[in-house]
Amino acid sequence: MKAYLLNDKDQPLVLTEVPDEPPAAGDVTVELRAAALNHRDVWIQQGNYHVLRYPVVPGADGAGVVTAVGEGVDAGLIGREVIINPGLSWGDSDVWAGPDFFPLGTPRNGTFAEKITIPAIQLANRPAHLDWEHAAALPLSGLTAFRAVASRARLKAGEKVLITGIGGGVALYAMQFALALGGEVYATSSSDDKAARVREIGVKGTANYRQDGWAHNLREQVPGGFDVIIDSAVGPGFQNLIELAAPGGRIAFLGFTAGGDIQMDVRPVYRKQVSILGTKMGSPRDFDAMVKLVNDKKIVPIVDRVMPMSQINEAYAIVDRGQQFGKIVLTPDF
Ligand SMILES: NC(=O)c1ccc[n+]([C@@H]2O[C@H](COP(=O)([O-])OP(=O)(O)OC[C@H]3O[C@@H](n4cnc5c(N)ncnc54)[C@H](OP(=O)(O)O)[C@@H]3O)[C@@H](O)[C@H]2O)c1
Repeated sequence: MKAYLLNDKDQPLVLTEVPDEPPAAGDVTVELRAAALNHRDVWIQQGNYHVLRYPVVPGADGAGVVTAVGEGVDAGLIGREVIINPGLSWGDSDVWAGPDFFPLGTPRNGTFAEKITIPAIQLANRPAHLDWEHAAALPLSGLTAFRAVASRARLKAGEKVLITGIGGGVALYAMQFALALGGEVYATSSSDDKAARVREIGVKGTANYRQDGWAHNLREQVPGGFDVIIDSAVGPGFQNLIELAAPGGRIAFLGFTAGGDIQMDVRPVYRKQVSILGTKMGSPRDFDAMVKLVNDKKIVPIVDRVMPMSQINEAYAIVDRGQQFGKIVLTPDF
């Protein structure tokens, strides 16, 4: 089959003929109709990820049709239109991912290919209201955002939510899920244009985190503080988030886009009894609950653009520059 291969750090992806992987017991083969990028793919290309393997077929997100099943898998699955849960080997606990957990696309080959062979338990039906491109945009970012908002921060209807860096793929899902769950949502962005776009979607207020006084601005908008804060930056602004949290507030962080190595005054955490929660992708139960919410509320992922997979290196550059508003989707044109 054909696939886009990353042969080494800092190299472009190269269209390559790779061996087919027949489904082993418990596996299925999915012929991919669309795939989507995550910032993680760019960091893997740049050698800036905690697990690396080259050569590798990257890509965690995909949607397609089951074309073959391994021993022990119901042959009735053949022809099923599916999305793929990219979190493999989560383990038995819902509290944290076990040591064997890893997302598709490193170290195991991923979705920037004609086909992928994965355990049948990773599949969910494609939501009926989503076309291939929107379905492929959902899995990794949707799962991560759902766990952060619903499972970790346990957002309740009527609560005030702040989401930082709203232009990010995970951040936009966090916004959509928080709105669907009845939250009153606020956001930060470096882009006034992106801020205006999310206000049109239902975000009540915004602030530009590149401008002095952004935290003061938010404090004026929500004097009582935020019940839930979702952050993927963990940069110098993190202390402001602690100050902006309401008494009993929950701050869930899911990445370190702005570094992660910060100085912190914990006294307001103590005084206000704030919870700071790490969150990592999500369990199979989170995935099923996320897909159910998407189906129940007919949520449509925000897609910045759809590109042919032959333009994969241009797509990586767009994500690297952070220019997009929503997911970059790739359709196979081998
Ligand atoms: N925990 C997990 O399992 C998990 C899963 C997926 C992703 N992640 C992590 O989550 C983060 C986002 O991933 P993604 O795929 O959504 O990336 P992405 O789509 O590339 O998001 C990039 C966005 O981050 C925002 N940002 C950049 N610097 C910021 C800062 N200093 N403060 C606040 N926001 C800032 C920007 O938003 P504006 O354009 O609005 O300024 C930018 O558009 C990454 O750190 C990634 O590693 C973690």
